[in-house]
Amino acid sequence: MENYHIQGGNHIEGEYLVKGAKNATLPILAASVITGGENFFTGCPEISDVDIMEEILKTLGCTVRKERSGILVNTAGLMGEKIPQELMKKMRSSIFLVGPILCRLGEVTICQPGGCAIGKRPIDIHIYGLKKLGASVKENREGLTFYGKNLKGTRIDLPFPSVGATENIMMAALGASGQTVINNCAREPEIEDLQNYLNKCGGKIQGAGTSQIVILGGEKLHGAKHQIMGDRVEGGTFLLAAAATGGCLELKGLKIETLNTLCHILGRAGCEVIGRENSICLQAPKRLLGVGKVTTGPYPEFPTDLQPQLGAVMAGALGKSYIEEAVFENRFNYTKQLIKMGGVVEIFQRTAIIEGSGHLTGSSVVAEDLRGGAALVIAGLAAEGETIVKDIKFIERGYANFPEELRKLGGNIGKHK
Ligand code: UD1
Repeated sequence: MENYHIQGGNHIEGEYLVKGAKNATLPILAASVITGGENFFTGCPEISDVDIMEEILKTLGCTVRKERSGILVNTAGLMGEKIPQELMKKMRSSIFLVGPILCRLGEVTICQPGGCAIGKRPIDIHIYGLKKLGASVKENREGLTFYGKNLKGTRIDLPFPSVGATENIMMAALGASGQTVINNCAREPEIEDLQNYLNKCGGKIQGAGTSQIVILGGEKLHGAKHQIMGDRVEGGTFLLAAAATGGCLELKGLKIETLNTLCHILGRAGCEVIGRENSICLQAPKRLLGVGKVTTGPYPEFPTDLQPQLGAVMAGALGKSYIEEAVFENRFNYTKQLIKMGGVVEIFQRTAIIEGSGHLTGSSVVAEDLRGGAALVIAGLAAEGETIVKDIKFIERGYANFPEELRKLGGNIGKHK
């Protein structure tokens, strides 16, 4: 089993061009099922979650071909309406296929989705929205079967702005007759990327990126070419690595607006952060300071997907930080590992109270989920001595060539037994 071996202490610095966003790629690959045609996607990150989505599409009868400049996906041959259990269990994002397959075939069966263990992660809001469109849901031995041959546009008020539910309902509504209005939508930029792709395919969707999305269903869609947007979570992780190691980084391919809250927080920690046209420049101080209170929330609030990485940075800063996790209930597992590295962290209800001591020490630690794993890599880069990060399969779900990219920026990190 391979691990990451990190010798801490080097600055992370230079220029980094973000890869395509995982959280845009997965729903867009799923959405291509609706088109029944040929699609070409550029910028998809080479991560294991994308591999799993491609495998599911192939199992369902679609053609997926990796080319040098992108991925060709032809969904004309879609026939299976049952998502294979072993693949579904590997990745929660397979839930995104429910809306598209329902739209195309009028029926779909799933088992309970898997994914990172960062909370209960129910799918009640997805089901609520799909039922509102007229779908029926039956629980059986295989899992859940959704039926929806005659979906009808309607008004849907989401009880919480769930990203996945917003996207799933938006995709299913393309197959419903008439207009659907979704209120209290999630406003994440990746939902706008999904809308942009679907509109290129002939869809009529407006409002993604705001809290109301309007979909005109019943249009015949066709395939399209699409460039996936930049990954603000990957980018934010690199900014945090630069901050933790006293580095200086120009992060290319992202506008500062997509990482506003993170950049403000890094400013509070003593970093200088400047937004350019399509990049973000960060200069870290010699000593980072604790940032006081931070709470995660739906976009545009501070992203839960950067909470563990910020926690790791703050464990090595000087002063107190209180990081409240308000989106997922179980996203502090990484703090146990930080404690092994000398971090002083206590969990009180949904808040990690971090007493930054200004110093972390290398240790052997275990990644328990994707972003928590990235947090441990950052801690290792900032710590004194050697850190070994085990169970890196979680990290590889969301970061392509992570050690190689960090090495190019000066990090001393390798992947071996
Ligand atoms: C997406 C992102 C994930 C990110 C999360 C929150 C993708 C592929 N994944 O996940 O990286 O961490 O948004 O920004 O885009 N909830 C329910 N019932 C539901 C659906 C969600 O209670 O039916 C709860 C979840 O348990 C969680 C919260 O709502 O506590 C947010 O979940 P949601 O926004 O749906 O996240 P995902 O779409 O799973």
